[in-house]
Formats: sequence, C-alpha cells, structure tokens
Amino acid sequence: MHDDKDTPPAPPLFTWEFAADPYPAYAWLREHAPVHRTALPSGVEAWLVTRYADARQALADQRLSKNPAHHSESAHGKGKVGIPGERSANLMTHLLNIDPPDHTRLRRLVSKAFTPRRVAEFAPRVQELTDQLIDAFIDKGEADLIHEFAFPLPIYAICDLLGVPREDQDDFRDWAGMMIRHGGGPRGGVARSVKKMRGYLAELIHRKREELGEGGDDDLISGLIRASDHGEHLTENEAAAMAFILLFAGFETTVNLIGNGVYALLRNPGERERLQRALAEGDESLLATGVEELLRYDGPVELATWRFATEPITLGGQRIAAGDPVLVVLAAADRDPERFAEPDTLDLSRRDNQHLGYGHGIHYCLGAPLARLEGQAALATLLRRLPDLRLAADPEELRWRGGLIMRGLRTLPVEFAPRIR
Ligand code: HEM
Repeated sequence: MHDDKDTPPAPPLFTWEFAADPYPAYAWLREHAPVHRTALPSGVEAWLVTRYADARQALADQRLSKNPAHHSESAHGKGKVGIPGERSANLMTHLLNIDPPDHTRLRRLVSKAFTPRRVAEFAPRVQELTDQLIDAFIDKGEADLIHEFAFPLPIYAICDLLGVPREDQDDFRDWAGMMIRHGGGPRGGVARSVKKMRGYLAELIHRKREELGEGGDDDLISGLIRASDHGEHLTENEAAAMAFILLFAGFETTVNLIGNGVYALLRNPGERERLQRALAEGDESLLATGVEELLRYDGPVELATWRFATEPITLGGQRIAAGDPVLVVLAAADRDPERFAEPDTLDLSRRDNQHLGYGHGIHYCLGAPLARLEGQAALATLLRRLPDLRLAADPEELRWRGGLIMRGLRTLPVEFAPRIR
C-alpha cells in the first residue's frame, strides 16, 4: 500500500494549498492509503479514513467510541481533541462526546423537543430572516456573503429556535464570530467565548425552568426542560450542554453550507442557470436535490468528529490499535468513484446520492431538517432576488479556513446590480 516502493510519497496534508483544494490529496489517499496514519497540525496522530465503504462502516462501528477518555494520549493530549474550552466550561456531556446507553437516552430526550414539526413551523421565520439580511445589502451592489449573510442567518435562527431573547442575540453573534474567526488558530479567545456562551445558557435555562408554565415558553429550551423519558428529565447541566451543542453543531456548518454552496454554484454556471430557471418556473424539486448535491460535492464537514478505538480493530485491511483516534474524511468518501458516478462533477439533479455529509449511524446529524430548511431558503432567495449574482474576486485569491473538521471560506465577495428593497 502506501509504503510500496513504486508509489509516490503521500501529498502534503493540512497546508494552505491543501485547504484551498484538498480533493486531489484525498483521491491519492483513497487510492494508495485508504486508512492512513498521519500527524495532525496539533501534533496528535490519527487515522484518516477516505473510502466511502470504510467511512460508512467506521461511522456505524460501536467499537469506535466518541468518548475522548478512550484516547490513548488523553492524559497528556489534554485539550487537543474536541471543542476548545469544553472541559473548562463543563460541557463534556453532549451528544458528540458520548456513547450508548447515555447517548441513546440524551438523543431520545432532545429528539422529543427538536422535532421535524417544530422545524417545519419555523420556516416562515427563516424566510423572514433571509429576506432581512438581503435587504441590508441589496442597494449596495456588493457584499461579503459570508459575513453579511451566511454567518448571521444560522446564529439568529438557532437563537430564535432556542428562545434566546432578541435583545441578547447580538452577544451570540459576537461569541460565535470569535469562534469562527479563530477556529483553527489561537485558542484563548475561543475558550473564553465558549465559557461566556455556556454561562449565558445556564442562566437562561435556570430562568426558563422557574418560569415554566407561565406562558411564552414554546421554545426549544423550554421543550428540553420539559422533555421526559420514562419520568426522567434532563438535568440543568445536560440541558445547557445540549443547547450549546445545538448552537455549536448547527452554526458554522450552516455558514459553510451556504458559503460553499453559493461558491460552487458560481463556479458551475450551467448548473446555477438550471437551478435559477427551475426556481423561476416554480419548480422546487431541483432545489431539494441540489442542496444534497452541494453537501456531497463540497460539504461543510470535511472530517467527522473524533472517534477512538476501544479495542484493536481492522478497517480497510489496516490494523488500528486500541486508543488510537480515527477521523472519517467525509469529503473524501463523498467523492469516491467506487460509490458515485463522476464524483468530481456537480450534478444538481443527482438521484443516487446517499452522501455522508450529515454523517451516518447513531450520531447522524440531528439538525439535518433545520440545515436543509436554511440551506434551501438561503440559496433560493439569493438566486431569486439577485439573479445576476457574480463572484467579485479571483478564485485563487479566496482564502479557506484552516480548521481540521470544517471546510469553509473566510470571505465570499460578490457583486450584482444594486436594487431598491
Ligand atoms: C449543513 C449543515 C450541517 C451539516 C453538514 C451537519 C453535519 C453533521 C455531521 C456530519 C454530524 C455527525 C458527526 C459525527 O458523526 O462525527 C452531525 C451531528 C450533529 N449535528 Fe449536524 N450538521 C449540520 C447542521 C446542523 C444543525 C443546524 C444542527 C442543530 C441546530 C445540528 C446538530 C447536530 C447535532 C446535535 C449532532 C450530534 C448528533 C449525535 O451525536 O447524536 N447540525 N452533523
């Protein structure tokens, strides 16, 4: 395999060039070293899984734990895996860090509050937010779609859904801004923002619990407090960790779904025109398959979150020792030619598209209905209201964020003919 004499050496990973276009390196790994041990920029060593079949198997394998205590380096690698600042903010008990039976219990409880119906009822508010954000820049003829559109939309949406009062939502915008700006860089500011958000949520949960039953409590946090399973409720600590993970998991992902999605459409004018025409004719079916295809083609979650082998396992013919971290590269699996016809082509009407952009198995994205709602509303509204939208920068000049898990642009400058609101 990768140590054969005839095989060229592995391409460099985690450089700026790699961040701009990781797909050639992933194609190499899929072919020559599908389960590949590498040192990450943090110094931690992990296995990268790049083939679709192996990726799907790993995501569903219960011998791969989500609990960082299983990491063989957990004693001295403290703080290097997981969400920056989560230990100090007492946030370790959230869905992406735990295994069954705790995961099963918490997921069942949150699913009772975060229902597809609650999300569907939220659609008019998402549309209103989308229009308000576009109203704010439509008369300028230019915008940075990341900062003025993709970034605020999910923050305000999730705050509304959780029941964070409107007057406090700009604080969240600031804390989230700190997290997204420094996602791959210095950690101090991120940890501080995580702590502030956690503190705010703890207080809000406490207040909402006291006020339960007094009316005006039809929000997700009140739903989380009320949800019970065989008489069991979430503790305030579990509810705070849950609210936090909903924010954390649902924010940058959606920013990047919109950012990467618009960028891919602007780089594929034929597909963009097709979608624009369908929308103009009132046909929304291409929008639905299109958003799924954008998730497959250049999705927001490049690598699934950390997993740790609880016992020695064999994956794709490779032996993995107990305690070793395993990172499933969703972006590589979703371009695997063994699974997808012409994987490097964007085809908005792709039907056979069981992509892994939302993960697979018991940790499958809980927020997928909300992400779809926001993604579809954002793209359709942009294309309808700004039909002449175009990139205002050379693609070579655009910078991608350097973080490990997420894939997204730092800025997305666009221009269009200015319009009156
Ligand atoms: C386009 C946007 C999104 C993408 C691509 C996405 C992707 C993912 C992926 C890949 C996972 C599994 C991670 C793993 O197994 O390591 C996941 C889990 C999760 N996502 Fe999303 N997500 C998105 C939006 C959201 C939103 C809007 C929310 C909530 C508001 C959300 C909440 C969650 C939660 C709570 C989990 C953990 C589920 C569990 O462990 O049981 N996500 N997401």
